[in-house]
Amino acid sequence: MDHGYWPLAAAFLLAWPSYAQEAADAVAPEAATETVDAFSGLTDLANAALGAKSDGAPTQAETWMVAAANPLAVEAGARVLREGGTAADAMVAVQAVLGLVEPQSSGLGGGAFLVWYDAQSGSVTTLDARETAPLAADPTLFQDESGAPLKFFDAVVGGLSVGTPGTPRLLEDAHRRWGRANWAGLFDEAIALAEGGFTVSPRLAELVADDAERLQRFPSTAEYFFPGGTAVAAGNMLVNADYAETLQLIAAKGASAFYSGEIAEDIVAAVRGAEGNPGQLSSIDLALYSVIERPPVCVEYREHDVCGMGPPSSGALTVGQIVGILNGHDLASLEPTSPEAWRLIGDASRLAFADRGRYMADTDFVPMPVKGLVSEDYLKARSELLSGDDALPEVAPGDPEWDHTLLFADDASIELPSTSHISIVDSDGNALSMTTTIENSFGSRIMVRGFLLNNELTDFSFQTHENGVPIANRVEPGKRPRSSMAPTIVMKEGKPVLVIGSPGGSRIIGYVAQAVIAHLDWGMDVQQAVSMPHFVNRFGTYDLEEGTWAADLQQPLAELGYEVNVGELNSGLHAISVGEILQGGADPRREGIALGE
Ligand code: GLY
Repeated sequence: MDHGYWPLAAAFLLAWPSYAQEAADAVAPEAATETVDAFSGLTDLANAALGAKSDGAPTQAETWMVAAANPLAVEAGARVLREGGTAADAMVAVQAVLGLVEPQSSGLGGGAFLVWYDAQSGSVTTLDARETAPLAADPTLFQDESGAPLKFFDAVVGGLSVGTPGTPRLLEDAHRRWGRANWAGLFDEAIALAEGGFTVSPRLAELVADDAERLQRFPSTAEYFFPGGTAVAAGNMLVNADYAETLQLIAAKGASAFYSGEIAEDIVAAVRGAEGNPGQLSSIDLALYSVIERPPVCVEYREHDVCGMGPPSSGALTVGQIVGILNGHDLASLEPTSPEAWRLIGDASRLAFADRGRYMADTDFVPMPVKGLVSEDYLKARSELLSGDDALPEVAPGDPEWDHTLLFADDASIELPSTSHISIVDSDGNALSMTTTIENSFGSRIMVRGFLLNNELTDFSFQTHENGVPIANRVEPGKRPRSSMAPTIVMKEGKPVLVIGSPGGSRIIGYVAQAVIAHLDWGMDVQQAVSMPHFVNRFGTYDLEEGTWAADLQQPLAELGYEVNVGELNSGLHAISVGEILQGGADPRREGIALGE
């Protein structure tokens, strides 16, 4: 990779700590990959969806639709929907297959956030299945003996970074609330693929090869991804008998089979016994884990409500701030290629990221001005800052209204691109948007019973204080690390019109905000909106997607005062628009499809 790809921001920008920069420089974003040749044996419908995607056209359907990161997982969900299952049922089948065929991004060993629109009640519900820090953890978890933050991969690889997984409990919780299909049957497809073997995709093969040294530190991980000592290659058939057995236990006994008993014992032993970097996860952490229903965060934008997951995710608040700040500016009158449009979007994003770094964390542990951050008056005041002609010379957190006050220092956590997103609309009109992750590609690299354990705890700030002022997103026992995941449902007059989300670390926020703007302001269909070249501005460097027309704006944006970088921006957006018909878009940068009937 190009190690000069994301250099530090200029002096006027919010600074990353040096260890965060080191981590960003050390990790290549997941590479974009070819898709069409890799999936022989798909149904005609799935092949047609792959064809539509390569033609840049949305998939169209009348009754139901599912969009996710791998055709095999999408087909599993489609089967459930075709047989009359709900979006929650289909999600269980999709996630179970993703954990097999895209193990580097999400699975049983990770966590997720889910946004649900219920057609019968018209309500939006958000479920937090974020991993928790072990009860034995303290704020110095990722510091060395002298109090200095660990190097990123010294923290990631091994047991130290593993939080209590939330995904198995979420599958069960969502199914209990909104499912109608037989629970056990939802795992059939994944079990059959795990037992009979699945075709390794180019993306998985490439990522295994890139991460060979780390993956081979742990015998069970090495044996799976390097059978006989050689890395799995694209097109190989890969069997995962341990995963099939794990799924059979969960199918028969529910999520409790994961959180106690033999699976839980193996997880705890693997984390605590990780050579060189043991962690503190205990059987009590697993036994106590629960999914939490949180209030959704909705922000009005162009007569729509952009709804998503509140803290501990920063996703909906930061996406909401970006579009809320832009409410006062007429983007529809500007071309998508206009530097002025990207000045407005870029500075709205910088302002939102400044607040994110200062205020956002797990509200069960730290007070947060949640309402103040997205109040109309506050967003209007922030929006007025964009009234000039050039890039803002300085960007600082604002002063939103607090429910009650506590002073925090700016955050210093690191988030890198991995993760996966699932969008589903079922034949009852329910909509599901779920972003799911094990954090870094291949998580902690520890494989237990056929699935990888997360490294989600590295989404906490490694630093605890700045000049004696505590950082909101520091590690605390039982706390959930701040996330950027932004599963989103855009509503109009109480009905969903767009279901969307993406992987991509903290860039998720920019990817989702941009696609919402492209769809609502510029009238792009969902495939155009997810395919559109990316412009991402987080801490101030303006990142433009290489090899696309976004790169043509390098000079004009530099002239406005931005420090601009051109490089790979590998989102994984999966979106469904809901209107007279359903239209689905799958990100051309990854292997997924949208499928419907
Ligand atoms: N680990 C990715 C995120 O939660 O944002």
